[in-house]
Amino acid sequence: MEGVDEVLEKRKAGVIMQNIVLIGFMGTGKTAIGRIVARMLNYHFVDTDQMVEEATNLTINQLFRKHGEIRFRSEEALVVKKLAGRERLVIATGGGLVLNPENVKLLKQKGIFVLLTADPKVVLERVSRKNTRPLLAKGKNMETIMSLFKDRSRFYAEYAEFTVDTSHISLEESAEKIVQIVKEQKEQANN
Ligand code: S3P
Repeated sequence: MEGVDEVLEKRKAGVIMQNIVLIGFMGTGKTAIGRIVARMLNYHFVDTDQMVEEATNLTINQLFRKHGEIRFRSEEALVVKKLAGRERLVIATGGGLVLNPENVKLLKQKGIFVLLTADPKVVLERVSRKNTRPLLAKGKNMETIMSLFKDRSRFYAEYAEFTVDTSHISLEESAEKIVQIVKEQKEQANN
């Protein structure tokens, strides 16, 4: 089966990337920043969690509670399949979407992967404002965050093509950085 490397080779060989895929841990700003990037580039904004909620008619919390994480991951993968052929999208992904290599492969075909990061303290402060994240239901604390992050960081590092640290800049500033990256990529592709 074709892997992520082969897909990237093909993309380099001439397929111009049409989507911007925001990956990264919970609380790094994927959704809020993604909306702004989409507005700035006149792209369509989609959020995989929101699509899962619409497809199942359940909130992410309800889905985890009623059917468990495995079902959530399969709904998430179905959403990715639906998005795979589309273009001119800014896609905010759920923090665990990149754990499934098939999701990565499908989205890399047309998408540039931008990793958003934030200091763990900042993540904790941001996620503490909401109760929408079942993986943090047992404890919104540094220990839970660090332990999840430890399992995830190698995936983020492996798939990221660009990284923006959102810890100490505004949503608009993060969005501008992403738009700049995309512009530079397009210029390079045209030269
Ligand atoms: C998850 C992150 C959430 C959501 C779900 C699982 C994860 O999305 O997909 O609660 O595994 O990290 P955000 O990253 O948008 O919070």
